[in-house]
Order: sequence, then C-alpha cells, then structure tokens
Amino acid sequence: MPDLTVSLGKLVLKNPVMPASGCFGYGEEYAPFYDLSSLGAIVVKGTTAKPWQGNAPQRIVETPAGMLNAIGLQNPGVVAAKAKISQLLRYRTPVIVNVSGHSIEEYKKVISVLEEENTVAAYEINISCPNVKAGGMTFGTDPDIVNKLITALRPLTEKTLIVKLSPNVTDITEIAVAAESAGADALSLINTLVGMAIDIEKKRPVLANITGGLSGPAVKPVALRMVWQVTDAVNIPVIGMGGISSAEDAVEFILAGATAVAIGAANFVNPTVCPEVVAGIEEYLSSYNYTSVREIVGLAKRTVNTQS
Ligand SMILES: Cc1cc2nc3c(=O)[nH]c(=O)nc-3n(C[C@H](O)[C@H](O)[C@H](O)COP(=O)(O)O)c2cc1C
Repeated sequence: MPDLTVSLGKLVLKNPVMPASGCFGYGEEYAPFYDLSSLGAIVVKGTTAKPWQGNAPQRIVETPAGMLNAIGLQNPGVVAAKAKISQLLRYRTPVIVNVSGHSIEEYKKVISVLEEENTVAAYEINISCPNVKAGGMTFGTDPDIVNKLITALRPLTEKTLIVKLSPNVTDITEIAVAAESAGADALSLINTLVGMAIDIEKKRPVLANITGGLSGPAVKPVALRMVWQVTDAVNIPVIGMGGISSAEDAVEFILAGATAVAIGAANFVNPTVCPEVVAGIEEYLSSYNYTSVREIVGLAKRTVNTQS
C-alpha cells in the first residue's frame, strides 16, 4: 500500500485529503455517511471572535459547473464553536480551524480563546475578509496587510499556521510570499472567485448581497494555475483546492505542486466524495508503482523542466 502521509509544518496527516472550510460544518451532517477518521484532517467553518449572522437570503445560487455563495461567514462565534470543535476530537483526526475577522484584534481573539485548550491541530487564516480598519478592503489583497496580520498572529501559537489565499488579486504570488515571510507554515488556495448572477424575470441580482463567491468545477483551471505559480514562489507546503470532485482532480493538484488537497462544493453533490478521493489517490499511486504520495508532489513541473 502506498504511504499517504504528508506534513504541513509540524502537523502530520495520515492522508492528504480534507474538506474545505464552510462546506462541512462541524462534520455532523457527514458523520452518518462514513467514518470521519478516514479524513486527513477536518477543517471547520470560518470562526470569528463574536457570532456573525451572515448575509440576508438569498445566499446561494447554482451556476453552470459551480455555485455562488454569499453566506457572509455566519458562525456562532469562537466560544460556542469551541464546544463543537471538542466534539470532533473523538474522530482521531486533526481539526483545523478556519479563522476570520474584521480586524487584526478579532483574529487574535479567536486564536487566543482556542489556545486555552489543546484541541486544535492547526489554524487556517482566511484573509478574504473585509478589513474594517482599511475601509472594507479585504485583508488578502494587500501584501503589507497580510504581513502585518500574520506577524501579529505568529507569536500566539506554536501550531501549524496556514494562510488561505484569495484568488481575487492580480498577482497571488506576492501575497503568498508575504505570508511565508511573516511566518506561515503552509498556504491554502484558492478561496472563491467573486462573481454574480442576475434573475432576468425579476431583473435584479439573484443574491441579496449582489455578488458572491464562485466555487465548484468552474474554478478548477484557475485554482490549478495558481497552485502551480505559488508552489514555484514559496518553500512552504500548499493545500490545493478549487473545483476538486474526483481523485483525478486531486492528483492534478498534487502533480502541480500541492502537498494536500481540500474539497468544498463537491461535498454537497456527493457526501462521500472525500473518502472516495482518498481511495482513488491510493489506486493511482499503486497503478504507477509509487510508494508514497510525496513522490508525485510537483511532478508535472519536473516533467516541464526536463522537456525544456
Ligand atoms: C458555502 C460555502 C461556504 C464557505 N465558507 C468558507 C469559510 O467560512 N472560510 C473559508 O476560508 N472559505 C470558505 N469557503 C471557500 C471554500 O473553503 C473553498 O476555498 C472554495 O469553495 C473552493 O473550493 P471548491 O471549489 O472545492 O468549493 C466556502 C465555500 C462555500 C461554497
């Protein structure tokens, strides 16, 4: 059997597959379908210092080959989330908490509260949040602000700090390098791409928020390109995501340079997609006689370099 273990900083995962934040809740809806211990990690939804109500409905719309969401990071706040996170410990798989906030202080608060107990394996810092102190622009679009945020969070924890990058920028490698130089142990990408849909009967945007984040198969080629570019620009591991719905998709991301993968919207279509992707990666490795998944990380780059 090929070795599926991978490392993200200090964190060792039994396999490289995890659900993407916001698409798996706290795992409750998926636990009846399969043993959640089979996941490389469980990534919980965006967690903020205080409860967030999220945006007004309509918040979701299906699009060709994907979906738009404008949930607005609805969550019960870190204190209530802590109890839900503790429930996940019985699955004997690392729990990664996605952290969101409107200011550096809010991000700090979430990590400080969670650090009071030793339940979280790693933090994934969502920098696609509106920064109230910078007039509502998102944290993730300015490398200086990303550097400031991660520099402020780094001393709060020794756990693996993952920075989740937004694709809604001109040059994602600039943001990746800023996060790495501030002390990030790993990066995850991509978050959703800003888009919109119009109801032609009502003659108005479908989403109450007007715009939403596009995810699903439609974004896969963009995500793959960004994983390729970012893994050329940094020396820390990358969790690739965006449109993965099969083992073949996951293998593409790993060959492009991702050390691990996350699966979001596909869970809504097929609740057992994550364990199916684990099994499919294993089968792929066996069929080519690889002994470890680590052997194929970035392999497509080596092929290109050999040919040129
Ligand atoms: C309904 C929904 C909620 C999401 N919530 C979060 C969130 O709370 N934090 C975050 O960093 N990303 C969130 N995302 C983004 C996903 O984690 C993922 O980055 C994105 O959907 C791309 O992957 P996919 O195409 O496999 O869905 C959300 C996505 C969806 C569809």
